[in-house]
Amino acid sequence: MITAEMRARFDRETAKYPAEQRQSAVMACLSILQSELGYISPESEQLLADYLGMPVMAVHEVTTFYNMYNQRPVGKYKLNVCTNLPCLLRDGSNALKHLEGKLGVSMGETTTDGLFTLQQSECLGACADSPVMLVNDRHMCSFMTHQKLDQLIDGLRAAEVKA
Ligand code: FES
Repeated sequence: MITAEMRARFDRETAKYPAEQRQSAVMACLSILQSELGYISPESEQLLADYLGMPVMAVHEVTTFYNMYNQRPVGKYKLNVCTNLPCLLRDGSNALKHLEGKLGVSMGETTTDGLFTLQQSECLGACADSPVMLVNDRHMCSFMTHQKLDQLIDGLRAAEVKA
């Protein structure tokens, strides 16, 4: 459901474009939906398509093209590890395997405490820094040795205990 507050935020985004190009706000509106609801459901895509006056498939194409949009609920910390070819050649898959072992989940899964979701990602544009990962679509982590991965996870867990 789109609340009045969300609709007002959508309106602010679409106002940045000429009326006949309001669909250009699709990414911003998807980000608003995700920040409010946690993920983009098929129902949300339909609501947004109706609001923007565009085919729902066109909205779905955007949702599925970018890693930052969640198509299902995720943990508090979303860990995207790059396993594209340059990173694959420089320990990207080892980093992913290490995190699978440390978190006790397989790629694509969320820990039972709801804290961590582990995902593969496409190139993050920092191939020379491999292994690289993105935390919650915002924080880039470079040169992630097993030791640095452990520090990251342990630090996030410790912060949760304190909170
Ligand atoms: Fe991993 Fe480019 S291939 S950052």
